[in-house]
Amino acid sequence: MSEIITIDGPGGSGKSTIARMMAKNLGFVYLDTGAMYRAVALAAMRNKIPFDQGALLGDLCSAMNLQFKHVEDASRLLLNNEDISLAIRSPEMDIASSAVSAVKEVRIAMTDLQRRLAQNINVVAEGRDMGTVVFPNAKNKFFLTARPEVRAQRRYLERKGRGEDITFEEVERLLKKRDRQDESRNLAPLKPAEDAIIIDSSDLDLEEVIQLMLDNVRKA
Ligand code: DC
Repeated sequence: MSEIITIDGPGGSGKSTIARMMAKNLGFVYLDTGAMYRAVALAAMRNKIPFDQGALLGDLCSAMNLQFKHVEDASRLLLNNEDISLAIRSPEMDIASSAVSAVKEVRIAMTDLQRRLAQNINVVAEGRDMGTVVFPNAKNKFFLTARPEVRAQRRYLERKGRGEDITFEEVERLLKKRDRQDESRNLAPLKPAEDAIIIDSSDLDLEEVIQLMLDNVRKA
């Protein structure tokens, strides 16, 4: 039987890096579900589909061929065989992905695809609703968070590192906006599963978070 570890949490909590490291450490496959919502947003924009058109977005999801290609430490996302890994990381896609992720038809399609991708393999699934909705029976569930100013600072450094021309205040504003959107939507809002272990990474380094998680995984 396959084993699933879920890691949910808000942006800037460190969950992508942590999920990738956990997967590597345990020999599991890393499933980046945020990237999938970003892919839907990119495809919708390219096809000029407004984000309030649920039926059209649902059709778009059915027609999309999304595949993860795992190369060494990285995981690339292919949309109809085109590598969109970079294109989905723009600030525009941050906001657009949050908007499409609130649409029922999109959530149904992505939840279904995420479950299919995790079939018969061991995965570390990262997102917002992994422990609450997509994999409620996962053996280990974590909710990773950090103080808002710490998350904004991490995002700011990440963006600067990519050479983006952006201020700390702007990063903080966008992060708060996205948190609000993700937490307040009706469908699969961002929140910890009742049986999730909540970890605040504000004052911990990566190794400490990984160690905490591994200790809990071994105990389970
Ligand atoms: O983790 P991320 O920043 O790449 O996610 C982009 C957006 O996708 C996020 O604002 C909310 C949405 N998302 C979601 O609704 N459910 C998930 N499981 C993962 C992401």
